[in-house]
Amino acid sequence: MRIDVISAVVKILEAPLNESILKRAQDKGLAEIVLHNLRDYATDRYRHVDDKPFGGGAGMVLKPEPLFSCLDKLLGERSYDEVIYLTPQGAKFNQKKANTLSLKKNLLFICGHYKGIDQRVIDKYVTKEISIGDYVITGGEAAAIVVIDSVVRLLPGVLGDSESALTDSFQTDSGFDAPVYTRPAEIDGMKVPEVLLGGNHKDIAAWRLEQGKKKYSRVKRKKL
Ligand code: ADE
Repeated sequence: MRIDVISAVVKILEAPLNESILKRAQDKGLAEIVLHNLRDYATDRYRHVDDKPFGGGAGMVLKPEPLFSCLDKLLGERSYDEVIYLTPQGAKFNQKKANTLSLKKNLLFICGHYKGIDQRVIDKYVTKEISIGDYVITGGEAAAIVVIDSVVRLLPGVLGDSESALTDSFQTDSGFDAPVYTRPAEIDGMKVPEVLLGGNHKDIAAWRLEQGKKKYSRVKRKKL
């Protein structure tokens, strides 16, 4: 899979993309993730990428010209399955959407910053607006990392068998993952549940399913 990300603050993206599973996926050649610094596409002498909103109001808006220019270049090089704009006004992201995106070949993400991006960029290029939740963060970069991480870990070969994404919370009918424990078997008088120490895989699977369901109804206040 190839993933392109357009941002005015690429530094925010660099560290998380170069650690852990996301790094491993790129090193193995399973995901190619390319960052594009919006400032490289600025048209004025001072490399401005934002401007005041027409009609007044707080915050700055990412200007259309640098985004048009960057998007035209990328769209001229390959076709994208989705051009995704990260915004709190988008459709709420979830595991099902991650699963769907993981089947695509080329994805292009646009990170807004400040107050957002000029609406004409959305009208002309964007195929999906995605929100990671009903709260506002400073820019789309952290949201892009959330979406990219959840998608890339699903690509075949990215996770080893022992880390299989199929047992992740939301992938099974248990809703949530069961609690996990490691050694020691007892600390400060708190013991690891007996069933996990017994080695009976059927009992362990049944216990995990039950625990996942219990936690799900406790947190979500509804039954699976
Ligand atoms: N940018 C700012 N807040 C966001 C959110 N909740 N989801 C996606 N992008 C955002």
